[in-house]
Parts: sequence; C-alpha cells; structure tokens
Amino acid sequence: MKEVATLRGLMIYQLQSIFEAENRWSNALNETARVIANEDLQKIFEKGSKAAAGHASSLQGMLTDLGSTSLDRRNTVAEDIVRELKEVQEAAADPEVLDAGLIVAHQCMNHYMIAKYGTVASYARLLELDKLATDLHKIMEEEKKEDKRLTKLAEKKVNAKARTALIH
Ligand SMILES: [Fe+2]
Repeated sequence: MKEVATLRGLMIYQLQSIFEAENRWSNALNETARVIANEDLQKIFEKGSKAAAGHASSLQGMLTDLGSTSLDRRNTVAEDIVRELKEVQEAAADPEVLDAGLIVAHQCMNHYMIAKYGTVASYARLLELDKLATDLHKIMEEEKKEDKRLTKLAEKKVNAKARTALIH
C-alpha cells in the first residue's frame, strides 16, 4: 500500500527508518568494538554505540510527539553497512588493516546519517516544527563530529599502521 502522501508523512517515514538504523548500528558498534586493535578507535566505537542508542531514544520521543504509532520500518542500507563491518572482519588478515577497514564502514554510516538527519531537519523547518528541526540538526552535528574524529584518527594513526602491515 502507498502510505506516504504528504511531506509530514515522508518525514515520519524517514524518522522511522533512521530509528531502525540507529538501533541496529548501536548493537553492531558494541559487538565490533571487541575486535579493534587501536585503543582510541575502540573508544570511538564504544562511545558511538552509546550515542546511537541515545539517538534512537530521541527519535522514539520525536515519533511519539508526532503521533506515530509505529516504529517498525526496515532499513536495508543499515543492514548492508552492518554486513560490511562483518565482511571486513572476515577479509582482513592483519589487525591494523582490519582497523582501517572498520573505519571505512563507520564513516559510510556517518555520511548516510548526516544526509538523513540533514534532510529531515529541513522538512521539519519547512513544516514549522522548529524544536524538532533544531533537535535533528543537533544530532546531525554530532554525526559530523564523530566522522571528523574518525578521519583524524585514520589519517594520523590507523592508516599508517595498516600501511606498515602491507610492507611486511
Ligand atoms: Fe546516530
């Protein structure tokens, strides 16, 4: 059935889809943190898992405020990025190379989230739901900060270590 008929409906549809992604991502980060060699990266994954759970809880509150009765929305992009976290663990023969590979998947999720939150925040602004727009924008900024932390760690440490592993 085609259920989305308005911009408000599309916004709710997107919020449900992000809710599913945040929950799945929180669990995946928590599981993956155990296999990470670099301590700083491990901390980013652990903190990221808690942040994603917090984002899911915020989204649940937003959906309730919007009168949405359902949180059930499959997100196949999140499923695929979580699969990528697992596939790189199967493929990487060196712990430092694995760390570098895990950063790729993490940053893919960050970029996906930045796009989603940014779009939904702009819908909320257009619909004159200013508090919702501000809250969504704030989460988007947190996703951006996490992405920058990962870039910095990759460029300053993790990729260089992975490079050495390739030389040996
Ligand atoms: Fe998040």
